[in-house]
Formats: sequence, C-alpha cells, structure tokens
Amino acid sequence: MNIAVYPGSFDPVTYGHLDIIERASSIFDKLIVAVLENSAKKPLFTVEERKDMIKAATMSLRNVEVDYFSGLLVDYMKQNDYHIVIKGLRMLSDFEYEFQMALMNKKLNDDIETLFMMTNSKYAYLSSSIVKEIAKFNGDISELVPEYIALRLKEKLRGK
Ligand code: PNS
Repeated sequence: MNIAVYPGSFDPVTYGHLDIIERASSIFDKLIVAVLENSAKKPLFTVEERKDMIKAATMSLRNVEVDYFSGLLVDYMKQNDYHIVIKGLRMLSDFEYEFQMALMNKKLNDDIETLFMMTNSKYAYLSSSIVKEIAKFNGDISELVPEYIALRLKEKLRGK
C-alpha cells in the first residue's frame, strides 16, 4: 500500500491545506494528515481541536486519516514505517525553507522522500496565520476556511 504523510501545524486547516489533502489522497492509497503537537509557533488550537477540525473537513475522503506527532517528523515516520512526506509549495518564499527541511530530513533518515505539490493558484496567498489575523479583526474568512472552521475560530478568539 502506498502511504503518504502530510505534516503541518494546521492551526487551523485552510482551503489551501484541504486542496493539497484532496489531490494527494487521490494519488496515494492512504494519506495520513499528521498534526505537529508542540509547534514552536504556539498554536491557538490544541492538537485535539486541530485534529477534530481536519477530521470534520475531510469526512468525505475515505482514505484520509488524521494523526498527531511531537518531536521530529523523521522519528514519527520511522516509528510508523512511513516513507513519503507530502508538502505544499505556495510561493518562492516557501521554497528555501522547505528545501532545507527536506534535505535535513533526508540526511536524518535516508529512507524518507519528500514530494512537493504546487498549491492551487487560488490559494497561493493563503496561510493559517493570515486567516487568524483576519478573523481577529472580524474580517471575512468565508472563502479561506470551511464554515465550521470559521465558527470554531470565532468561538476561540471570543474566548481569549
Ligand atoms: O504547517 P507548518 O507549520 O509549516 O508545518 C511545519 C512542520 C510541522 C511540517 C515542520 O515544522 C516539522 O516537521 N516539524 C517537526 C520537527 C522537525 O522534524 N523539524 C525538521 C527538522 S529538519
């Protein structure tokens, strides 16, 4: 079985992520969306909340599973005998960091291949940070995240 892992912070998942998830899940037998638990970015949502939101948004995709990891991605891959990492690329500015991370992951574990998918051009400007920033000031995020995620985000920001 061809299994790929799509790792990220997903704080929260956006239409940009969902586009990559949908396309990658049509290529591989199984796609594991792996949420990084202890991100240095200090996530707004807990790992359970982020997982739940991804599960809700990918319910119709039967070969997508949602999991979490902490620590190094290569260790998570090795522990589960996974070998393929999927990353989305938006702009040239993503490239340098992603290139460095892919090479470092390969150095740490030569059995891992990182495959890049170009983002849909509709979402080239989209990131979870931008969504949170707009939501914070009550801007319109209806074209950036599913309705359910927008509601969760508003609730979360109101509670803070
Ligand atoms: O959605 P993000 O925040 O861009 O995702 C980045 C992520 C989670 C894929 C990356 O930071 C990661 O894999 N972190 C785990 C720690 C690790 O393995 N770092 C890379 C060493 S080269």
